[in-house]
Amino acid sequence: MQYTGIKNKVAIITGAGEGIGYAIVELLLKAGASVVLNDLDEHKAKSATEKLNVLYNDNCHYFSGDSGNLTNINKMVDFTIEKLGRIDFVIPNAAITIFGSFLETSPEDFQKSLQLNLHGAYFLVQRAAQEMIKQGTGGKVVLISSQVGIRAYKNLTPYAMTKAALRMMAVNLAYELGEHHINLNVVAPGATLTERTANEQPDYPGMWGKLNPNGRVGTPEDIAKTCLFLLSDEASHINGQTIPVDGGWTTAGKYPEDL
Ligand SMILES: NC(=O)c1ccc[n+]([C@@H]2O[C@H](COP(=O)([O-])OP(=O)(O)OC[C@H]3O[C@@H](n4cnc5c(N)ncnc54)[C@H](O)[C@@H]3O)[C@@H](O)[C@H]2O)c1
Repeated sequence: MQYTGIKNKVAIITGAGEGIGYAIVELLLKAGASVVLNDLDEHKAKSATEKLNVLYNDNCHYFSGDSGNLTNINKMVDFTIEKLGRIDFVIPNAAITIFGSFLETSPEDFQKSLQLNLHGAYFLVQRAAQEMIKQGTGGKVVLISSQVGIRAYKNLTPYAMTKAALRMMAVNLAYELGEHHINLNVVAPGATLTERTANEQPDYPGMWGKLNPNGRVGTPEDIAKTCLFLLSDEASHINGQTIPVDGGWTTAGKYPEDL
């Protein structure tokens, strides 16, 4: 089935030079949207955009910079309006995952997690919603949470707290922005094989394949397909919900220490 309501729309996606964000950009471009791809790393943002533009009619533009920073958020939205004239979809995907025990968390690491994962998502959605209201067209937001924003996990408390907070953000904003026809949902990925997770852990697919009820890790495309559905007209009556895409881990998965 081909989703409707994506073609000719304009999207902003943060943290998309690689991994899950990149896969979301690719599916949106394939479905005929135009995208502003953000990444902190200018080289990654530029090379991802160049690669995608060969395949998808130059419909991808990049904006490099820290998407947790308010000045960058405002510049990124201004850049999008200047280049593409409007904003229809926003996916604040960039996040920082800092591992460490609760008893030893530094205030700096706690603050870094809040700054990007929450402050960045909150103020990007705020500024984009202001534009959508000015346009009078409504819009759609997909927030990227995590399986550990739903179920307990050791040594990831600040990250897990930010990911749980995004779910409440969607619940509140689905209510508060509903009258402006702005729709918000959340995708909560499970263990997903990206460049980062492959680097963090030897045999990531082998280990998480054993922990997930369905016997495998997620791919960035698994997550991107759910995002595309939520952005489409076919999902227009789904609002304020969290969809785990996790192979069943939040329902009945095991922990690494169980192996
Ligand atoms: N990979 C997983 O297993 C997994 C599981 C659950 C949730 N998630 C969530 O999915 C999203 C994407 O995960 P991923 O593993 O693809 O991401 P990642 O950690 O691989 O990062 C993707 C990109 O974000 C960029 N980035 C980092 N800090 C940034 C900043 N301050 N501003 C802009 N860009 C920045 C990086 O340069 C990188 O290219 C995140 O929100 C993450 O929390 C991922």
